[in-house]
Amino acid sequence: MRHFLTIADFTKEELEEILDISMKIKTETKKRIFKEYMPKQVLGMIFEKSSTRTRVSFETGIYQLGGVGLFLSSNDIQLGRGEPMSDTSRVISRMTDMVMIRTFAHSKLEEFASYSQVPVINGLTDDFHPVQLMADYLTILEEKKEKDLVVAYVGDGNNLAHSWLMLASKLGFELRIATPKGYEVKAEILAKALEFSKISGAKIIIGNDPKAAVKGATVVTTDTWVSMGQEDEKEQRVKEFTGYIVDDAMMKLAHKDAIFLHCLPAYRGYEVSVDVFEGPQSRVFEEAENRLHAQKGIMVWLDGKRND
Ligand code: CP
Ligand code: NVA
Repeated sequence: MRHFLTIADFTKEELEEILDISMKIKTETKKRIFKEYMPKQVLGMIFEKSSTRTRVSFETGIYQLGGVGLFLSSNDIQLGRGEPMSDTSRVISRMTDMVMIRTFAHSKLEEFASYSQVPVINGLTDDFHPVQLMADYLTILEEKKEKDLVVAYVGDGNNLAHSWLMLASKLGFELRIATPKGYEVKAEILAKALEFSKISGAKIIIGNDPKAAVKGATVVTTDTWVSMGQEDEKEQRVKEFTGYIVDDAMMKLAHKDAIFLHCLPAYRGYEVSVDVFEGPQSRVFEEAENRLHAQKGIMVWLDGKRND
């Protein structure tokens, strides 16, 4: 049995297999062919943080695969009143076929997985958001940007930046990350990415100059400056992220055919300007739709590995 906790746990070939399944099911879905790859299966979906895309993509996805999703907000289950993660996992995983969980500390997800009898999917933690990155790469493939791919990530060294590090270092593309000083990616995650890069040939460049990062990039991406749980730091962060907005001037430095991606929700006027968000290079809603297709690919792949 396999879990989907971070991209670090997968080989390049496995990631490609998941992307192939996602693409195949997307093609079927677009023709309104709904094959029941997971009939009668129940996906438990535990949310300790808010969500629009993750919830809708997994719930719609499992339904279209022939199963059903259970939305379990931590406010409504005993987890929110202090029932331990270990007990929650042992109970829910005895009654469902797969579990997706969005939580705070990554160690809580790992704890849940260690007690689970069924595959567990990371629906976002403070450190990683791997299901998002599968949708992002699906978008890159559809846009035919995978050849000579140079991704520039401008902004906070957060769960998205960490996930880009894992994806680039596993698949072997060039990733440039520019964060303000004091908001760099975690050293141990960077170290892991550099280790994977030795095998994949990825080029990872970390710095504090957004313009240098974006120069000639074929994909420009960013994320909110204030992640869920950091609301109290908003004022300070907005001050320190000055100069990190992806606006027209920034996009002009990128390759002329570059696309702009954002996992959403987006805060216009902060990490991205309205012009870029709504402009011709933006693929943010294609990317958002791909959450549905990528999430199906992950579930079907995990289901196939149940007896491994
Ligand atoms: N990108 C993303 O995960 O969105 P939600 O927080 O709405 O799920
Ligand atoms: N970095 C953001 C991503 C939201 C999808 C957060 O963790 O809140």
